[in-house]
Amino acid sequence: MYDNHNRMINYLRVSVTDRCNLRCIYCMPKEGLSLLGHADILSYEEILRIVTIAVKTGIVKVRLTGGEPLVRRGLVEFVSSLNKIEGLKDITLTTNGILLENYAEPLFQAGIRRINVSLDSLNVEKYKSITRLGDLLSVIRGIKKAECVGFSPIKINVVAIKGFNDDEILDFAKLTVHKPYQVRFIEYMPIGDVASENGFEYLSNDIVKKIINNYSTLERTDGYRGKADGPAQVYRMKGAVGEIGLISSMSHQFCNSCNRLRLTADGHLRACLLSDDEVDLKSMLRSGCSNSDLESLIKKVILDKPKIAALHCYESQRKKCVRNMSVIGG
Ligand code: GTP
Ligand code: 5AD
Ligand code: SF4
Repeated sequence: MYDNHNRMINYLRVSVTDRCNLRCIYCMPKEGLSLLGHADILSYEEILRIVTIAVKTGIVKVRLTGGEPLVRRGLVEFVSSLNKIEGLKDITLTTNGILLENYAEPLFQAGIRRINVSLDSLNVEKYKSITRLGDLLSVIRGIKKAECVGFSPIKINVVAIKGFNDDEILDFAKLTVHKPYQVRFIEYMPIGDVASENGFEYLSNDIVKKIINNYSTLERTDGYRGKADGPAQVYRMKGAVGEIGLISSMSHQFCNSCNRLRLTADGHLRACLLSDDEVDLKSMLRSGCSNSDLESLIKKVILDKPKIAALHCYESQRKKCVRNMSVIGG
């Protein structure tokens, strides 16, 4: 269905857990976050109920996120159940890749065909320092396995941070020469408690584009195999097999073409990544609401979706985004 700003809302991102097997420095404080208890997160049955009703309002695509979705027990069986929801056309997943080698095959069998993997450095030591504990080689093995199993496209998400991984732009871009990956450079967004502590600054994708263009001409494409591609502007280096995506949330916000809602791990429906206004669906579900109550509420959230993210409003009206990425799911 359309919102009040004439945007078709057809994509729901579902964070299935706020837990993660990594501690990325831009996402979590060193000491870790206070994690949600078992009863605080939605059960799979509750998520299935919400998605089934969301599909009635026009949602056709669901992306599972976290934290790290693969650390939640029973995820593969959950995907199989999601796959049975009539009208849901696309189920996708964003993972940090650490457990992907073992999960790629069962996930594919359960019905996932497209996968996005977060990877911020191609250097073993640097990867460990960005993630505080990650092993780069297991992610690489996971990506290779996903490719063997048949996932397509495989998108690699690189959060670009000034002075941190800006020296690796070309190394990432060169991956697309021989591999059918879409490497996406995402401008770091100041989200959650950590944002005020870490002092990170995003690296503008205008700079990323210049760096790559100096190496090889970038040609605009229409996204992977002609499909429109969400927030990413998609390019290809001359002669390359794969693609380069630029997600420029900070320098060129794209709110006017946003098509998504988010369901947080604790069951709140969030109309905008960068605005903390949420509706508590979990409390509604647990107080015995009917399906039609739920449908009306989802429709209201869609209609009221803000025209532009609070983070992009004039300084005087700007609200902070304090909910952490690991609960929202990116
Ligand atoms: P596909 O287009 O389906 O491949 O996925 P995606 O780009 O929506 O999913 P992914 O989980 O890989 O998200 C990549 C990153 O893009 C997110 O973590 C955010 O950093 C950014 N992003 C995605 N959606 C939005 C959005 O609505 N607003 C903003 N500002 N950034 C977004
Ligand atoms: N800014 C931009 N992207 C982020 N991600 C996590 N935190 C941030 C942030 N502050 C990315 C992850 C993952 C995706 C879901 O969100 O790297 O790829
Ligand atoms: Fe985990 Fe993703 Fe946050 Fe890194 S960015 S700590 S992988 S949830």
